[in-house]
Amino acid sequence: EKGGYDHFMLKEIYDQPQSILDCLRGRLNPAAGTITMNGVDNHLNALINAQRIVMVACGTSWHAGLLAEYWIEDLCRIPVEVEYASEFRYRNPVINRGDVIVAISQSGETADTLVALENAKEKGAFIFGVVNAVGSSIARLSNAGAYTHAGPEIGVASTKAFTGQLAVLVMMALKIAYAKGTIDEKKYQHLLTELHDVPEKVSQILKDTSNIQAIAEKYKDATDFLYLGRGYNFPVALEGALKLKEISYIHAEGYPAAEMKHGPIALVDDKLPVVFVATKDKYYEKIVSNVQEIKARKGKVIAVATEGDEIIPGMADDVMFVPDADETMAPLLSVIPLQLLSYYIGIAKGLDVDKPRNLAKSVTVE
Ligand code: M6R
Repeated sequence: EKGGYDHFMLKEIYDQPQSILDCLRGRLNPAAGTITMNGVDNHLNALINAQRIVMVACGTSWHAGLLAEYWIEDLCRIPVEVEYASEFRYRNPVINRGDVIVAISQSGETADTLVALENAKEKGAFIFGVVNAVGSSIARLSNAGAYTHAGPEIGVASTKAFTGQLAVLVMMALKIAYAKGTIDEKKYQHLLTELHDVPEKVSQILKDTSNIQAIAEKYKDATDFLYLGRGYNFPVALEGALKLKEISYIHAEGYPAAEMKHGPIALVDDKLPVVFVATKDKYYEKIVSNVQEIKARKGKVIAVATEGDEIIPGMADDVMFVPDADETMAPLLSVIPLQLLSYYIGIAKGLDVDKPRNLAKSVTVE
């Protein structure tokens, strides 16, 4: 059932070209210039006219929500808030009729998310579920939704469910933007093609991981890691840090790269590995100077960089390459080496990567 892989986590990382394809199948059609999602099509007015969209989730799914904020605000010009379900449910949030709540959950059973949604629904919010487990509690409670179609995820660390969530959320953003007229035809077409190319590019990353395994060996005894990224790569930095904590029990923090100088830079010494998610995008020049700031303090830089880039690899101690892509789709690629890095560090430390201590696959207690 592990399909010849040593662990579910590795299998599920390798499932991603196929699971992302399964998520796009029957929905994305670049030749026709269309995205078909019944849950969105049937409620297009509620989504286009939303005054506000609130993402509600926990853990990795919360990171997907953060990316949706960047996508929806950029492409659709609708204000988005991203809420931890556990905070949202207890702090008497303002919910107005006409607000759209997007619930993101792999299992569809997370107690904090479920109760937060029940409360919001009572107050008249429209709930859109982005869920992996078909027929789960959150799927049933939602007014509409879109399944991620990632297939069963057994490893406690979420991997393919995350990229499925991203694929659904970016399709939603593109659909809403197109219907609202906030994206021009050319950019829309370009992004459909870019999204279509993602599964193939993920396969390329997975082809040879020997370099990532060597990096894992080299850094497995570090006690702390910092993960930095800007823009679309900031939520990826958070997700990379969470994966490392869960799988290797190494303390890790994710930060927006520019925020580092407001505190975390004090941690940097010649032992601290700093993972930069530094693919080619509009922040590239800025992130180059952030890398310089870390190198000037003798930090060890591990970079996720775009193939063909020479500047970041020239500065970093170690590099994990991803294929070139429009920055909008970059997270679907840049997260893959980070999943692999945490997997191989966990393995190098002899840990149970499928069932890390103290964690459960679905958190059904509050
Ligand atoms: O099933 P859900 O997506 O609602 O779960 C939310 C979190 O519990 C989950 O993402 C958790 O953070 C994972 N262990 C992350 O790898």
